[in-house]
Amino acid sequence: MKVTRTAILVKPDGLQRGLIGEIISRFERKGLKLVGLKMLRMDDQQLDQWYSEHREKNFFHDLKSFMSSMPIVAMVWEGIDAVPVVRLLVGTTLGREAEGGSIRGDFGMSQQMNLIHASSSNEDAEREIDIVFGKNELFHYHGVTEAVVYAEGEAEFDENGD
Ligand code: CMP
Repeated sequence: MKVTRTAILVKPDGLQRGLIGEIISRFERKGLKLVGLKMLRMDDQQLDQWYSEHREKNFFHDLKSFMSSMPIVAMVWEGIDAVPVVRLLVGTTLGREAEGGSIRGDFGMSQQMNLIHASSSNEDAEREIDIVFGKNELFHYHGVTEAVVYAEGEAEFDENGD
């Protein structure tokens, strides 16, 4: 099966709560592969693009000002079915209702302050990755644990970036 990518943002509340290491650790332990990582303050244009589907929502301006109030940490993770796998680990939007064991379920209480963003489809992932990462900020490499995370022939990696 082909390996795909997903985009993650640890939001300002996740940074302030000191959860960067915890979040990275959960994705690493799962067997996902980190292929991009950066800290940045998202600007107005990036946020308009990122949240274009929420432009008409009443929380759009509050969401944008929250997301630009502090730096965030952006990541790209790779694996078979990376988008749904990461969404399971992240949990549902509202922290109070998110399943125990998920990131929001274990650490979140809020709807806006929900610690982390995860792409909702492969198309969204590629669109979001392009908003934050340049081509030379994404990496292709052989992960030594892949031979035990997946069975032989199970995962098709694109290690040359072709
Ligand atoms: P996420 O799903 O990552 O992307 C959209 C974000 O909008 C969502 O996380 C929340 O942070 C925020 N959000 C969604 N619904 C509401 C709401 N009703 N009020 C405030 N913020 C919201």
